[in-house]
Amino acid sequence: MRRMSDYQPLREERAFLQKKSKRVLPALVVAIGAIIGLASLTVYKFSYTGDKKDICTECGIYGPLKPAFTNSLDEIMYDSEYKRGVIDKLAGAIQIPTEIFDDTPKPSPDLAVWKNFQNLHIYLEEQFPLLYKTLDVENAGGYGLLYTWKGSNSSLKPLVLMAHQDVVPVDPNTVGSWTHPPFSGFYNDTEDLIYGRGTADIKDMVISHLEASEKLIKDGFKPKRTILISLGCDEEASGACATDLAKHIEKRYGRDSIYAILDEGGGVVERNGSFFAVPVTAEKGYLDAEITLFAPGGHSSVPPDHTSIGILSKLMASLENDTYQILVNETNPAFDTLKCFTKFGAIQDKNIEKHLIEGSIEKLEATLDYKPEFKYLFKTSQALDVISGGVKANALPESATVLVNNRIALHSSVNETLEHILLHVRDTANRFDLGIKVLSGRDATEDNSVSLKPDTVNGRIVIKLLDPLEPAPISPTIGSEVWNIIAGTTVSMYKEKAFGGKEANVYVTPALSTGNTDTKSYWNLTKKIYRYSGGLLIDGTNEHTVDEKNSGRSLISSVAFMYQYISNVDFYSTES
Ligand SMILES: *[C@@H]1O[C@H](CO)[C@@H](O)[C@H](O)[C@H]1NC(C)=O
Ligand SMILES: *[C@@H]1O[C@H](CO)[C@@H](O)[C@H](O)[C@H]1NC(C)=O
Ligand SMILES: *[C@@H]1O[C@H](CO)[C@@H](O)[C@H](O)[C@H]1NC(C)=O
Ligand SMILES: *[C@@H]1O[C@H](CO)[C@@H](O)[C@H](O)[C@H]1NC(C)=O
Ligand SMILES: *[C@@H]1O[C@H](CO)[C@@H](O)[C@H](O)[C@H]1NC(C)=O
Ligand SMILES: *[C@@H]1O[C@H](CO)[C@@H](O)[C@H](O)[C@H]1NC(C)=O
Ligand SMILES: *[C@@H]1O[C@H](CO)[C@@H](O)[C@H](O)[C@H]1NC(C)=O
Ligand SMILES: [Zn+2]
Repeated sequence: MRRMSDYQPLREERAFLQKKSKRVLPALVVAIGAIIGLASLTVYKFSYTGDKKDICTECGIYGPLKPAFTNSLDEIMYDSEYKRGVIDKLAGAIQIPTEIFDDTPKPSPDLAVWKNFQNLHIYLEEQFPLLYKTLDVENAGGYGLLYTWKGSNSSLKPLVLMAHQDVVPVDPNTVGSWTHPPFSGFYNDTEDLIYGRGTADIKDMVISHLEASEKLIKDGFKPKRTILISLGCDEEASGACATDLAKHIEKRYGRDSIYAILDEGGGVVERNGSFFAVPVTAEKGYLDAEITLFAPGGHSSVPPDHTSIGILSKLMASLENDTYQILVNETNPAFDTLKCFTKFGAIQDKNIEKHLIEGSIEKLEATLDYKPEFKYLFKTSQALDVISGGVKANALPESATVLVNNRIALHSSVNETLEHILLHVRDTANRFDLGIKVLSGRDATEDNSVSLKPDTVNGRIVIKLLDPLEPAPISPTIGSEVWNIIAGTTVSMYKEKAFGGKEANVYVTPALSTGNTDTKSYWNLTKKIYRYSGGLLIDGTNEHTVDEKNSGRSLISSVAFMYQYISNVDFYSTES
């Protein structure tokens, strides 16, 4: 690794911003949102004199990596005509409404929803002619796209760049609230903003992967290491497309056959004149538990003291009364983010700062547990999200159902989450003399359930586990070549070629996501998964809601990052 130990000395930062800034909802995944959002909370004046340098030594600080291939770098970053061209390419992709719904049927050429994907494919082929001439392009998982840019040395593991083509639907009731129509891709030059569904989640990354590659091909770049671009088609629904793409890649190259994966998730935020890069190195786990209480029906003129609805309500109340334990584990990437952001002023919270300086984890846990923006980075969440039961005023409800959505903490597991639910289910079942059954999988029937307590005349509680997912393995950071190239490329781009021409401080820190990406299907392929675009993230991009937008500068910074990253990996990496 060249120039990796080239740490830049940094001034210790002691002063605090003393103005109140507006709280803004930041871009991308909720978790990153949480962390970054805090950066703009009310700032306190206080006289605590601890030294922030004691929070962590050298955290976040990396030296720049000299770009290996610079032919078009200045054009990409500073040529306004070029920028306008890339914005137009994104706008065209936004105009094709590749909306995906929870009940969208399986891919089929005859269905209107999937026609949009066919049109998008035609559009991409038109926009990136060199790429389509040079790379192999295949379909997998229906309308998933897999591009193969063959390297000259087949003993090097391929690099995988991911994103997804689908977008969440626009609610027809809110179309009128958009500043510019949601599928216009309208660009306001004065604001440097592109409006439309998918501008921030995540057609910007689809375009930046393809544009960076197109530009590299045009500039005569020929990779030694194979590069795969893998674009899912239903990330916002089941993610089945990504599963097929991953299986396809595993079949072709084998298990643990991939050098590294980059996907959506993190980027670079600007705070107080410095840049903070947050590649996401882990994701929380997931469990939807559908709990149904079956009880005898009958005429409601002679009801029992508690109907199925009443009993289920007690169960729900007792679940909500027992939240999960917070745990700050130093292996949790969110802890790295907290330290780096606090040390360098992107988070300004006097209590968090004090506990970090003193290294008092218990006090830190107690403080974080009161902060909704932070606590779920360190504990499992539970939310009662869907409920149903009963059909008629004069009939006792024969069943009542609640869906509990859990995002599982890194230190926990699906098993531990289920045990927590079962604690309360057992208690309820004992109190009201009911049976208990557990079913695994969306399509499971009671014939293949596990019975934990036999049914009684009063009925039974059935827990159906939907979409269980363990927390993601934590990707390597310090000491890993893959991480160092990501960090060095970022520092070089934002420091030496900082937008606006001024030299800026650049910090790089691992981060955690509370949501999941298509990478959840790619664990067999590599341990090195980074949810990171390298692009600048702006506040208020409004993913999944009205007025989703992104800046031209953000789009261009992603293209510039990918242009450098692809060529840096090829030049600097020594890992086969
Ligand atoms: C572009 O943005 C500016 C500044 O917000 C605004 O004044 C102008 O009306 C916008 N233009 C259009 C066409 O929406
Ligand atoms: C809530 O939990 C506390 C202790 O964790 C317990 O004392 C209390 O009885 C519980 N309340 C309900 C309504 O379950
Ligand atoms: C912290 O995480 C590591 C690695 O996952 C684990 O071995 C350790 O037990 C955890 N510590 C606590 C206190 O949970
Ligand atoms: C904000 O940036 C200025 C200039 O780089 C620096 O002196 C100051 O310490 C920073 N503020 C915080 C809270 O880190
Ligand atoms: C959780 O794991 C423990 C230990 O392996 C096991 O005994 C228990 O049955 C598991 N619980 C569930 C609900 O699967
Ligand atoms: C990963 O490998 C395991 C074991 O071979 C297999 O059961 C699983 O389906 C694979 N996962 C994916 C997403 O392909
Ligand atoms: C291909 O890569 C392998 C692994 O790094 C290396 O040993 C080999 O020399 C390379 N072959 C060529 C022709 O460069
Ligand atoms: Zn997305």
